[in-house]
Amino acid sequence: MAYTTVLVDVRDGVGTITINRPDKLNALNATAKTELRAAVSTLRDDPAVGAIVITGAGEKSFVAGTDIEELHTLDSAGGEAFSRGGQDVFDLIEQCGKPVIAAVNGYALGGGCELALACTLRIASDKARFGQPEINLGIMPGYGGTQRLPRLIGTGKALEMMLTGAPVAADEALRIGLVNTVVPHAELAGAAATMARTLAGKSRPAVRAILTAVRAAVTGPPSEGMKAEASLFGASCATADGREGVRAFLEKRPPHFKDI
Ligand code: COA
Repeated sequence: MAYTTVLVDVRDGVGTITINRPDKLNALNATAKTELRAAVSTLRDDPAVGAIVITGAGEKSFVAGTDIEELHTLDSAGGEAFSRGGQDVFDLIEQCGKPVIAAVNGYALGGGCELALACTLRIASDKARFGQPEINLGIMPGYGGTQRLPRLIGTGKALEMMLTGAPVAADEALRIGLVNTVVPHAELAGAAATMARTLAGKSRPAVRAILTAVRAAVTGPPSEGMKAEASLFGASCATADGREGVRAFLEKRPPHFKDI
């Protein structure tokens, strides 16, 4: 598929998606959302890809939100469908079965913050700024932010961000657990690629099982999560990679995973 608003690159087991509307600070318009969905699906299905990085083009912005120009004509039903459409794309990212790293290179506002939240890990440049400024437009987050942000950073801080709309700088984002790590701006792409290559080198069935079990932890009751964990743990013990990893440890040699 020929893309106009995203760039896709695959190398060393890592697929990188760059949202590419730098003149609009990478705001997600309808085309960008469609292309982001297609790019994620393609990388999910590509056996050469073990991990995915999502970042923004240019020096200033990861994604500055949904494209505000597309909001002003929405009625209630249209707004709900708009929200559902964005949620679906971000759910796909969260549930693609491969680790997805947000390399946050600047503004991550509104839908941009929600995009980062849907990713597995978040690595931020020291220039990154996170925020849910929808309140300042008289509306509210609609791409999963009201659900994912409290789970990640706790209800109090999440409500503060959503009710004030005030942005949070990278060091504060690290302090409140919104990002996994902060690196100097110039080192962001390298740090994200290194982490992605590390994760791509792990046993894929084991990675998938961990992602599934942790999702059960954050979306369902603990008893269901425990059941899911036990079942996934059992399955992972019986995979070829599980047997190889355990045997390799006992034989004091590195494991040779085959992703089965
Ligand atoms: N939707 C549509 N266009 C956007 C946008 C968005 N979410 N964010 C930025 N842009 C556009 C601007 O309109 C401007 O376009 P123009 O050059 O054609 O006028 C361009 O991107 C550059 O933005 P600008 O505002 O000039 O940059 P800045 O450095 O002065 O300010 C921000 C940067 C991020 C603080 C500011 O752009 C902003 O507040 N954006 C909206 C953030 C937001 O509310 N997101 C949630 C949406 S629900």
